[in-house]
Amino acid sequence: MSYENSARVINDDIFDLVNECFGQEKSTRNIEARVNFFDTYNNYFVLTDDGSYSINSREINHKVETLHTSTGAISESFEKFIRPMKFDYDEDIAILDICAGLGYNTSAALADFIRNGNDCRLTVDMVEISKATLACGLLVPSPIREHDYTKKAIEDELINQDYASLSLEKAEIPENIEINVFIEDARKTVQRLEDDTYDAIFLDPFSQNMAPELFSLEFFKEFRRVIKDNGIVATYTSAAPIRAGFIEADFCIGLGPIFGRKQGGTLASPNQLMLDYALPKNDEIRIALSDVGIPFRDPGLDNSSEFILNQRTEERHEARHNTKISSAVKTPIFLGREMDDEKLKRRVERNLAKMNIPSTTSKEACYIVECEENYTEKQDLKNNSTQRILEMKKRLKNVKNGNYLST
Ligand SMILES: C[S@@+](CC[C@H](N)C(=O)[O-])C[C@H]1O[C@@H](n2cnc3c(N)ncnc32)[C@H](O)[C@@H]1O
Repeated sequence: MSYENSARVINDDIFDLVNECFGQEKSTRNIEARVNFFDTYNNYFVLTDDGSYSINSREINHKVETLHTSTGAISESFEKFIRPMKFDYDEDIAILDICAGLGYNTSAALADFIRNGNDCRLTVDMVEISKATLACGLLVPSPIREHDYTKKAIEDELINQDYASLSLEKAEIPENIEINVFIEDARKTVQRLEDDTYDAIFLDPFSQNMAPELFSLEFFKEFRRVIKDNGIVATYTSAAPIRAGFIEADFCIGLGPIFGRKQGGTLASPNQLMLDYALPKNDEIRIALSDVGIPFRDPGLDNSSEFILNQRTEERHEARHNTKISSAVKTPIFLGREMDDEKLKRRVERNLAKMNIPSTTSKEACYIVECEENYTEKQDLKNNSTQRILEMKKRLKNVKNGNYLST
């Protein structure tokens, strides 16, 4: 897909209007177009519950998503991306903000640093594919003061790339803060970044069905290379393939904060001790045992969303009843449990039989999920989601291969 097409991520009307606005700024050198844009086209911006503004995406795979939760766009940045971090503000901090959008996550990081930082420096590398979306960040009212610094960095880069022409942002970025803006596909950017660099990675794409390329195993392997040993990746999603991808990329995983959604997001770190809370039990079981736990794959980091989604569908199909228990009727979560519903039980046990598991309460079934008996919501080095998932995976393989009694 061409840059122009892949960068066309926001609502088509506002995309065209923003390009026109900055085109006019260039030809007339008149500040009015930019200054009046928000009031003139207010109806294209989505007011969220905390008073900050969002925008709608264009229709991707027959769906429109808003860039932020309706519960509060800037609050979401603080709750999902800043609160779970354990920054040591006595040391310099580096953050990679992937899918920077309007710049809210970066701005929340700046606010936290300015409030708590000591004698140290903050570097934020923002990555966003769409100039028009970054430009929208200049057009919305700043939800917090620190957004003015982000706007300044965005404006500088848009001028550098000949998209904006006038320097209207007057905030002076504090000397101990550096904000770099990369305008390209984040998959390209990560490949150029140095090893062992970041204390935090904010991963904030559209949902997995719209942007599976930003949740792939290969992308996460790049994260594993560029993140520091105590670094944390934060993302809002609770989806099984994404959590499974982090584990395959050699991360430990934990539960992220719940905000504006039913379920907590996901945190990943090379260091288990950075992750306080375990995933819900059933999530662990499904990731470990069922075909929903098959990650998105993007070898070469250059495949289209459609290709990645189709490949995963095929891989799930092949794995079902072979290396993974079918995810149909949530089969794996009944392992080790008595079932009253006879009809459901028949379906579950049909799926289990194909994996050499005679019933939900058979010794094979209990053996596979035995480690869940130690489950606690708080996790530590010895007792955590990642280890349980890896253990259940191993045990399922043993049972399928008929050699579990010898282990
Ligand atoms: C949910 S929004 C992010 C909101 C943002 N974090 C903020 O603070 O406003 C998702 C963003 O991902 C961007 N995006 C989509 N594909 C991308 C890619 N391949 N590389 C980088 N950014 C991408 C979109 O343009 C969109 O701005």
